[in-house]
Amino acid sequence: MEAILLVGGQGTRLRPLTLTTPKPMLPLAGIPFITHQLLRARQAGVDHVVLATSYKAAMFRDHFGDGATLGLALSYAVEHEPLGTGGALRNATGHLRGDGPVIILNGDVLGGLDLVAMVDHHRHGAADVTLHLRRVPDPTAYGVVTTDRDGRVSAFDEKTDRPATDQVNAGTYVFSRAALQAIPPGRVVSVERETFPRLIGEGRRVLGLHDDAYWLDIGTPATYLRGNCDLVTGLAPSAALDATPADTLVLAGAEIGDGAELSGGTVVGHRTAVGAQAQLCRSVIFDDAAIGAGARLTDAVVGRGARIGAGAVVDGVMLGDRAEVPPGARLIGAVPVRG
Ligand code: GTP
Repeated sequence: MEAILLVGGQGTRLRPLTLTTPKPMLPLAGIPFITHQLLRARQAGVDHVVLATSYKAAMFRDHFGDGATLGLALSYAVEHEPLGTGGALRNATGHLRGDGPVIILNGDVLGGLDLVAMVDHHRHGAADVTLHLRRVPDPTAYGVVTTDRDGRVSAFDEKTDRPATDQVNAGTYVFSRAALQAIPPGRVVSVERETFPRLIGEGRRVLGLHDDAYWLDIGTPATYLRGNCDLVTGLAPSAALDATPADTLVLAGAEIGDGAELSGGTVVGHRTAVGAQAQLCRSVIFDDAAIGAGARLTDAVVGRGARIGAGAVVDGVMLGDRAEVPPGARLIGAVPVRG
């Protein structure tokens, strides 16, 4: 079984962290995010994955190489100019080895979707494309998907102000080879704005499949934080982690000062120093950072090599690599990981 993993986006909503590291390579529970997806795909029987790269393409190959350490064969398709989600799929198609249906994964979805069941549904339904669907409280930020009683998709409206339903595209698909080949080559194509509406308009078999396992799009500061905490506390499943839930994850080489309190799924990066009496709740601290004594961090993301002064308060804030917060400063933001 083969998969294409879409990893070429700029991840603008996670700036400034994504100015130096592409979103799919940002650490979640201490490892590059797509490691969780790649191992989940392997668990489902996928043996070859094409990474559709564009933004900071070299970082993926530098880290994962041929995939042998993950027990997978990895290939890299590179877009010199980003081709959008559909153009990226078409560009990656030339790297596929077989001719069966292909699993497509957005490089920002953390979840426990049953990929084997999804491929079975696709095959038994003789589908051109099968979409994973979820119900969400606010569908306006997603592709809204209308289905008929048999689960066949009758409309796909990307990011509409007037959603016809709360059922949305959850960012994992199965495509037949013919459906991939039908995407026009060599130009920008959005699978959400062009390919899905066209397939539906042509009467092709586009099926939706509900699966209510854990699912989170980690593409915003709040969901990026929540994904980290959920992995640490065991709420989110991952084939890449030891299954034992914990309250915190302290990575190798980190130093935790006397009386410091860590909670809520907080991650402390490699070689990061946390000062005495500091309090870190639901926060993610990247590698090589320093948190001063008595600092209080809640719902915070702190980039690599950043320095937080003693006694500073950081709440609901995402700080980039090498950020400096003076001692005693108060930074109160709006990253609502709670709830
Ligand atoms: P934002 O800028 O914050 O919206 O993030 P993004 O750039 O990742 O965009 P979005 O979340 O809509 O992308 C969904 C998935 O498609 C992500 O895994 C992206 O990496 C990927 N993606 C988006 N655009 C492209 C592209 O032009 N080429 C490739 N190869 N992948 C893309």
